[in-house]
Amino acid sequence: MNQKEAKIRIQELTEKIEEHNRLYYNLAKPVISDYEFDMLMKELIELEKEFPEYAQSDSPTHRVGGGITKEFKQVAHKYPMLSLGNTYSEDDLKDFDERVKKAIGNDFEYVCELKFDGVAIGLTYKNGKLFQAVTRGDGESGDDVTVNIRTIKSIPLKLKGDGFPAEFEIRGEIIMPRKSFEKINDEREETGELLFANPRNAAAGSIKMQDSSEVAKRGLDCFLYHMLSENLPFDSHYENLRKAREWGFKVSDYMVKCKDINGVFSYISLWNEKRKDLPFDIDGVVIKVNSYKLQEQLGFTAKSPRWAISYKFKAEEVLTKLISIDFQVGRTGAITPVANLEPVQLAGSVVRRATLHNADVIEKLGVRTGDMVYVEKGGDVIPKITGIEISKRPANSVPVKYIEKCPECNTPLVRKENESNHYCPNEENCPPQIKGKLEHFICRKAMNIESLGEGKIEMLYDNGIVNNFADLYDLTYDKLIGLEKVFKATENKKEKKLSFKEKTVENILKGVENSKKVTFERVLYAIGIRYVGENIAKKLAFYFKNIDNIAKATFDELIEVEEIGDKIAESVINYFRNKNNVKIIERLRNKGIQFEITANASKIKSDKLQGKSFVVSGTFKNFSRDEIKNTIEENGGKNVSSVSSKTDYLVSGENTGPEKYKKAKELNVKIISEEEFSEMLK
Ligand code: IVH
Repeated sequence: MNQKEAKIRIQELTEKIEEHNRLYYNLAKPVISDYEFDMLMKELIELEKEFPEYAQSDSPTHRVGGGITKEFKQVAHKYPMLSLGNTYSEDDLKDFDERVKKAIGNDFEYVCELKFDGVAIGLTYKNGKLFQAVTRGDGESGDDVTVNIRTIKSIPLKLKGDGFPAEFEIRGEIIMPRKSFEKINDEREETGELLFANPRNAAAGSIKMQDSSEVAKRGLDCFLYHMLSENLPFDSHYENLRKAREWGFKVSDYMVKCKDINGVFSYISLWNEKRKDLPFDIDGVVIKVNSYKLQEQLGFTAKSPRWAISYKFKAEEVLTKLISIDFQVGRTGAITPVANLEPVQLAGSVVRRATLHNADVIEKLGVRTGDMVYVEKGGDVIPKITGIEISKRPANSVPVKYIEKCPECNTPLVRKENESNHYCPNEENCPPQIKGKLEHFICRKAMNIESLGEGKIEMLYDNGIVNNFADLYDLTYDKLIGLEKVFKATENKKEKKLSFKEKTVENILKGVENSKKVTFERVLYAIGIRYVGENIAKKLAFYFKNIDNIAKATFDELIEVEEIGDKIAESVINYFRNKNNVKIIERLRNKGIQFEITANASKIKSDKLQGKSFVVSGTFKNFSRDEIKNTIEENGGKNVSSVSSKTDYLVSGENTGPEKYKKAKELNVKIISEEEFSEMLK
């Protein structure tokens, strides 16, 4: 193939593949087989490799992602990204309707749409090409996640047809369909990673991933529902969205126009019933006035438009049988009763277990084994039991007897005054407590050893290689290579054998080694002193500066520290009274773990500006430039000398350098005054 032919064929393939993507992902109407599609893709990949000069910027081959983003650039929204007023009640909707009619009369239409349960995104198109994708952030500015959004195949990289404005924004919701969600959680379960609580959290986590090729594997989707531009083809919402569908956007088929509020009520009751049959989650319905002119007349409150409202569905509830109760032991020894249920379909997935929280909840519900119970999904992975159907209670049922001994190590349980949970006090030898503590130690906010996870920790513990934090730092290649564990079959999974190969072992050792750089305040959080969470760990670390000072601090000295009360002080003292804990800390110290505040961190007052970079330019009314720079560092921010795409803020005084100002404008870097800067620290 010569150059000219290659150029034409690359263009042809790019368009053809994108059209097949649209037919498959937007319209669910593929016209060629997966095999034929793969062949087209293969041909394009090969041609682009041979003739890279002709590869198009919007090539579908880029949808597989690649490249790492360390930190997403902050971008100011051209139009603020508002949210919607919401309600759960029909009466509120009637009031909304009355307010609307009072303002604009009776001659208007409503548009009803599904309320997609995902993450809001704003997509900007310039000359028909995807230019930028920005998350909501604080509504004023959000993260530029374009590299990740490009991997979502239902989002057009280049628009079809004509009539679109030279520049416009279209907003919508990134969602994770239930199928993708289940697949990802299954995979995470197998590799021992934490599960996502629901598809919304999974979608939110996915679009912020640093590796876009991983995002590409997440099976995300995107529905668009709001257009913003001065030059749209129609002067109403519904008609513009229909047009956007022709340009290649995924606009829901279930958007309808209604003449009045009764039509809205019918739409709500239809979707309240049918939502469980959708392949993705919705959490309500959105109602909008269709005409832009009337929208303008209605205007906005400080937070949301007066021309739209969302009606949220009540959490779905099902009735099922409670078969038995298991008692789980957490990392702190806290016991959680978990109900085993007769499997039942709820909000798109099968539920088999639900939490019963503690003995008080069991008593308050008055629940008995064999009862028919109401189950609801909250924000957590595990659903909860909200009530019982007493009319269906079996005649011979007996009240639940709460356990008295630990189900794992048989130690008698304790229950302290004013605490709702029972505890197993056998901290050092109770297996789930040891594993739980290790899992906490390696987690992202603690030592951040990503190459280990729940499953791998279990393997190390069950093989007798790791019993405490310090053992992690004695791991060697020889101890790890070839290590095996058989994960037993469950109802829907086959038995699986995992064994550590060279790459895994190298990654584990690298992760452990890197954790030696983790700062003292996080190490203090990692070692899992009861009641010492992330925030308290920081407070203790900055106040006492090193572990020895904390270990020898008296009760009175401890409660001197902001936010530290009797309970935490006692817990800290108890922790260091335990010789075993002291021994482990000594071993960790010998391995090079950080047990004191670094010189830089010691002057830190807060983390309000953590991770943000600033350029300070000009002269100021209330502070010197150096004072502002010091304040930035004292609050966790970073000073840089010139504006780049990585800069978050330009703090601009009088006579700000014109080059800096121009560059900040060009790169969409937020420009703030000294007052706005002071405001950030409040
Ligand atoms: S319209 C100014 N339409 O729900 C109005 N929002 O609670 C812009 N959402 O911020 C929003 N489905 O993230 C609109 N069909 C829909 C929606 C929808 C889901 C989300 C969106 C919004 C939030 C409001």
